[in-house]
Amino acid sequence: MKFFVDTADVTEIRSLVGTGFLDGVTTNPSLIAKSGRKMSEVIAEICALTDGPVSAEVTATDHETMLKEGRYLRSIAGNVCVKVPLTEAGLRTCKVLSEEGTPVNVTLCFSANQALLAAKAGATFISPFVGRLDDIGQDGMGLIADVVQIYRNYAFKTEVLVASIRHPVHVLQSAKLGAHVGTMPPAVIRGLMKHPLTDRGLEAFLADWAKTGQSIL
Ligand code: E4P
Repeated sequence: MKFFVDTADVTEIRSLVGTGFLDGVTTNPSLIAKSGRKMSEVIAEICALTDGPVSAEVTATDHETMLKEGRYLRSIAGNVCVKVPLTEAGLRTCKVLSEEGTPVNVTLCFSANQALLAAKAGATFISPFVGRLDDIGQDGMGLIADVVQIYRNYAFKTEVLVASIRHPVHVLQSAKLGAHVGTMPPAVIRGLMKHPLTDRGLEAFLADWAKTGQSIL
């Protein structure tokens, strides 16, 4: 399972790249706004930090302008993955860009039928939003199970990118279901490393080690 970080904060990305388990980055217009920076500059900077795909989202709502924006975003760096919303214009744009060889992440997916359409449009990634479904009392992980099954039934190449992940249990469930990718905020990635028994165990080992008076080096 690949791990993407969902942020436009370059400092966070740089630090996570150092861990070696970051496979890519996703951004959206809200995250770019939060960064307070010019989109083209921040995307270029992120792309230079990782070889993995960096999702940069179009903001037009009509097909022609989305296509122009997608082509522009792709020109920023070779690892830009153009993100389009799951609308009719977004799916049309996905089809054209995919045929041109540009990787496309179809975002704001909330149903399995939407995911089926994105796969037929040649999407590289489909992003079902689990947290936002949970927020309104629907079953976010149930959607992931459906999409994984449907894609397997037809051997679609589109990868299931679990988005709107809110906590480590979403990551665990995604992995058990065989989702290809999870994108999550930096705090969730860091949370995966933590366990109170690890902290307590390490503390005890180090206390006992100190009593020996030894040093390994
Ligand atoms: C994914 O690409 C989205 O940017 C993201 O996962 C949305 O998450 P949110 O629902 O926490 O805003």
